[in-house]
Amino acid sequence: MLDKFDHSRHNALMSYLQSAQNADVPYFVRSYAKINLTLDVVGRREDGFHELITLMQTVDLYDTLCLTPLAENRVQMICTKPELATENNLAARAADMIRQRFSLTKGLKIELQKQVPMAAGLGGGSSNAAAVLLALKDLWQLPLTPTELLDMAATLGSDVPFFLNGGLALCEGRGERVTPVTAHWPASLRWLIVLKPAIGISTANVFRALPPQDYTDGSHSRAVLSALQNGQEPALEHLHNGLERGVLELYGEVNRAREEMLQSGAAYVRLSGSGPSLFAPFADLEQAAHTRQQLAQKGYEVYLTRAI
Ligand code: C5P
Repeated sequence: MLDKFDHSRHNALMSYLQSAQNADVPYFVRSYAKINLTLDVVGRREDGFHELITLMQTVDLYDTLCLTPLAENRVQMICTKPELATENNLAARAADMIRQRFSLTKGLKIELQKQVPMAAGLGGGSSNAAAVLLALKDLWQLPLTPTELLDMAATLGSDVPFFLNGGLALCEGRGERVTPVTAHWPASLRWLIVLKPAIGISTANVFRALPPQDYTDGSHSRAVLSALQNGQEPALEHLHNGLERGVLELYGEVNRAREEMLQSGAAYVRLSGSGPSLFAPFADLEQAAHTRQQLAQKGYEVYLTRAI
């Protein structure tokens, strides 16, 4: 007969490992990707950023980070993607920001196992940075208030504050003013296909090219928010992304991928963030799996995932 799994002993061991501050134990964290269910660009601000109202949701697609102490007084970044193994990586910058804020001289090794596509509109880099902030607060027992943590996150990037909490949230301002939302997740969005066209897109370029005709007043995001909060299915036309028209026009590769998704069985396809990733919602797993397989056979990088 199998022994029953002893949860209390397992939990005690895990919390010992996680709180062993100075021991050379690896501290593993997951860092999830996001999609933008909606993205209203409301206008351009004096500081050059754009005013947004966007509904973001973390999805079950993640990188793994492993943090260990380093004898030298520096942050060492190691990554499965060599181009990300630099001190400019947002995760390394997050660690340095914490070290500077508390005048710490202890070093840190960050190992990043990258699975979330990069420069993809899925918030991978921002999520890594938020994971490092939270992990170091815990690992080094730092007296950081939620407001301080949010400020540090917002300095690192507009999407970083969202990832401190994850889940579903309404994000406003540059994206850094985050209001977590508790809502009943609708059946029509149960499964999500996320496809990453084989190009990288610069968020700054997409915003720079955006004409005022693509601005909206936030009503798409508010309509979807209200539907989700009331346990209703959101109207598909409100799953709007104000950056999509411009991205489809500028990047033929994204347009082609979108067409292929529709031809492979997706009823609705939307851009995530500033792209190039596209997502399509499915109520039915079998249909989602079939569509994913068809797109994979056509050579696309494509994931079947869900909100988390
Ligand atoms: O804040 P983050 O570094 O993610 O933004 C990258 C670039 O995208 C900014 O430098 C800015 O040009 C543009 N951006 C914007 N409005 C936002 C967020 C980003 O114009 N709300």
